[in-house]
This record gives sequence, C-alpha cells and structure tokens, in this order.
Amino acid sequence: MKLFNYSRPHVMVVLLILFVYVGFIASCTHDDQIVPTPPGPPSLEQLNKQVRVQVAYDAAEVALKFTWKTQGKLYPVGLPNVGKNYPMQFHDMLQHNGTRFDRLPSAQRLEEDRITFMIDKQEGGIQGYARMGCGITCHTGMTDHHLLTDAVLDHWHWRGARSGPMGYAEDVAVDNVSRIRDDLGTMPTKFLRSGGDRFREDQAAIIGTGHPVLEDGLPRFVFNKGKSMPGGFTVPGFFLPNRSNATMIDPHIDIPQIKDVSNNISLLVVYQDRNFDPVEKVNAIDLGYLAWLATGNVDHLPSHLSDESSSDFTAWKNFWAAETNISTEAAAITKLDQVHQEWVDSGKKAMVTRSVGFIYNSDQHDISTEREFNADRNEWTVILKRKLSTGSAKDANLSTLPNGGKFTISFAMHDSGAGSETHDISLPYEISNNDDADIKAKQVSSLSNVDWNAIPALDTYWVKQAVMPRFTDDWLRSGAHPGSGSIESTKCLTCHTESNNVIFTQGVLN
Ligand code: HEC
Repeated sequence: MKLFNYSRPHVMVVLLILFVYVGFIASCTHDDQIVPTPPGPPSLEQLNKQVRVQVAYDAAEVALKFTWKTQGKLYPVGLPNVGKNYPMQFHDMLQHNGTRFDRLPSAQRLEEDRITFMIDKQEGGIQGYARMGCGITCHTGMTDHHLLTDAVLDHWHWRGARSGPMGYAEDVAVDNVSRIRDDLGTMPTKFLRSGGDRFREDQAAIIGTGHPVLEDGLPRFVFNKGKSMPGGFTVPGFFLPNRSNATMIDPHIDIPQIKDVSNNISLLVVYQDRNFDPVEKVNAIDLGYLAWLATGNVDHLPSHLSDESSSDFTAWKNFWAAETNISTEAAAITKLDQVHQEWVDSGKKAMVTRSVGFIYNSDQHDISTEREFNADRNEWTVILKRKLSTGSAKDANLSTLPNGGKFTISFAMHDSGAGSETHDISLPYEISNNDDADIKAKQVSSLSNVDWNAIPALDTYWVKQAVMPRFTDDWLRSGAHPGSGSIESTKCLTCHTESNNVIFTQGVLN
C-alpha cells in the first residue's frame, strides 16, 4: 500500500518539516541516539548521493534526466587541471606543434565528460540483460563492449564535447562484434573524408603553399568569428576562447575556469541539414574552402574533393559559399589573413578542437539533448529525449512504457578526465510506470514543459572502482561470484543493497 503521494506539494511540505525537526533533535541531543532515516523517496531539492535518474514520457516521446556530481579530474597526471571540478565540454585539442596543428602530446590530452546508458526490454529481451545490465557486454575487461549473441542492444551516448554542444547524443548500438555506427560514406560527412558517416569526425591540419595558413599547417576548421548564434551568443574568435572570451592559450589552466556551458564554444559544427534541425548551429568555417578560393589549388583537400567538376565538390563549395558569404579570391585572402593573424597574436598558442560535428537526418540523430552545469552544486544535468518508438532496429522500442512495459537500464559516467576505460558504472535498474520500479517513469502531458520536481527520482551511488573488473559477464556467472546461481532471476539490488557497502561507492567522489 502506498502511504504518501510524494509528488503532492503539501505532503512534501509536511515531510520537509518532519525531516528538519528530526534533524534538529539529532543535532542538538548530545547522546548516542541514532535517529533512523525515514524511508521514502529522496528530497528532490538536493542530490545527496552521486547520481540521480528521472524518467518522464508523453504520448510520443520519452526523456531521461541524469544529474550527477562531477569528480575532481584525475588526468593528465601532474597538470594544473588535476583535482579541479569543472564541466568538461572539450576533447582532443589541436595546437600547433612547431610544424602544423596536431593533437596535444598523449600525456597532456584532455577527455570530455560523458553520460551513457544501455537499455532493453525485459520481456523477450536480450538474454541476461534484464538482470545483469551492461555487464553482459563486458567480457575480458572494459576495453570493448559487445554481446555474445546475435542481437542488438541500444546504447545512448552523450558526449560532453563531441555531441552535447550540438544538442544531441550519439545514438549507437552494440552487437556481437562491437559498437555500431553509421559507416556509409555519403554527403555530408564527405565534406571531411571519403568514407564513414559518423556522428562526429576528426579534422586534420591543411598543408600546402600559396598562403601562410597552408604553409603553417593551420586546422581545416576554425570558428566563424563574429557569427551570431541563437541565444544572443556571438562567436568571439576563430580559436577557442577562455572564460574571459580571450584566446585560450593553456587548456589545463583555462578550461577548469569555464563553468558556464550555455555558450556553444567547444564543438566545431561544420554542416547542418536545416530541414532536419532548423535551429542554427553551424559555428565553423572551412579554411580548406577559403584556401581553394585564395590559391585556386585543391592539393590541400581530401581526395574526393580533388575534382572540381564533381557533384561532391559542387555541393561542398555551395554550402561554404552560403555559410561564409565569401566567394571571391580577395575576400578569401582577407579572411585567411585574419585567421592567421589571430593565431600569431596568441603567440602561436591558439587552439581548436579536433572533433567536428554534422547535423543531418540519420539513425544517429534520434536523441536530442539539453545540458546544464550548476557550479555551486558541482552538478551536471543532462536530459536525453527520443521518440518512444523510432522504427529503427537499432533502437529499443519504448512504446510499451505507457502500458506498464518494463525495461532495464544500466548507465555509466565518464567524468574523471581519464580515457574510455575509466568510467563509473551503475547496477542495472528497472524502468517502468509501475509503483515498484527502481526508476518510476511518469507520464506528463508534454515533455516540452516538464516539472522535474514532480517526477520520481532514483538517487544512487556508482559501483566502486575496485569491484569494476568483476562486473563482467564471465565473472558474474562464474563460481567465484556467490550470486552466480540466481544471476538471471534475482536483481543485483536484492543481494547488494546500498548499505552493505560491497558494491557501491559511498559518499561523494573527490
Ligand atoms: C543471490 C545474491 C546475489 C545476487 C543476485 C548478486 N550477487 Fe553479487 N555477490 C553476492 C555475494 C554474497 C557476494 C560476496 C559479497 C562479499 O564479498 O562480501 C557477491 C559479490 C559480488 C561482487 C564482488 C564484490 C567484491 O568486493 O569483489 C560483485 C562485483 C558483484 N557481486 C556484482 C553483482 C552484480 C553486478 C549482480 C547483478 C548482476 C550481482 N552481484 C548479483 C551475492 C549476489
């Protein structure tokens, strides 16, 4: 029986008064009396554990909201960013190495924050996932995720640098080989390279003769300085800005000072299909295009752009002519000179990111996102939204959620600045609209104006780093695990409660 409806404001007020009163007694009586924590859902006012998950849905869409405490960054060892808490919305910086723009040396590289999860239906779902969650995709370690059976597991992946600033998450899936992404090799990602449509791409320096930008090997994509973006934000420079909108020079010092993620400053968005997403997000210019105008030469461009009469070339040229409003040699040289000068003025320290983004209609663009960072609370908030049913075989069909359908979710957070293997993971949890679900999904009339304070929350801890090597399909099913006999019938949570301290990291990290 349900005693309280916690979503009703007056009940919350009564409970709040009760909690404050009990807390008052506890703190003022100097004896050893232990006041038990009242049962019930967490106060939605404050996240006191490490991560919160909430799920809401309307007739067409579902939204998952994650709130988590950031960790003090652990890497790169010995550099000034270590130990600081900040939202990491940058990845793979490119800076001049004396010859050309390139990634920072490996011991200095910085990694974006990420939140990611896998989800599958319980009934008729992938063998083992309902109870073991993403553990079934880990086998000999954490280096790769894949299934042992011929199935496809939906994987939502929000990247702090490579997708978040665009307002998307990478919509991938895992099969019995590895992660599946788009790999078609069509326009528009052909703007960049010949094959492989990916949600994000890597840019290289352009090298050639005829302009200092080519001779010094500047990056192919820089920011479109002066462009007005939605939200009253004007792109401040061709290169990455620091907190004061001056050119960033030392990423390990400058990045930790940036706590405001409302300005889209990290990801170079180089192409956008505005029929698919009409909100203006392209913030880049292609110096390769300007260098072609300036020199009449295509040598610095990738091979599929070497034929000026090809349709690829025409599509690319027309896009950048419209985007830059530049189509003459003189105007191109002027702009290239400005870019080069800004780099020289920075003491040749200015940088951009290596990752560039494309927005176009594809299976990987099903998930739209919103992000927020609260520096006072040291909390990231990311909302990921998608249709209940996308029609894609790579996506979990969530259309039964409104009718009591049960799903299992396992989530993970990368937020230490370390590489892909150092992430914090969760136990598997059930999402459904049933009262006894671990994460109770709540119906709302429209996801466009959700009152998240009225949506139930699961507040929990991450799995301890020390036990992560055992969070694999092989170990959990092995004789070494006392729970192996009932692994597919009993929830992990039934044996591993938060309080018994075997699995969960208690307290806030770093
Ligand atoms: C039937 C009860 C039961 C179930 C269900 C169960 N476990 Fe366990 N598990 C245990 C026991 C008992 C231990 C040993 C506890 C100890 O060492 O104190 C253990 C140990 C572990 C350890 C090793 C902890 C360490 O300190 O090395 C991991 C990791 C683990 N379980 C993960 C899981 C996960 C993940 C699930 C769900 C997929 C799960 N367990 C389900 C009973 C269970």
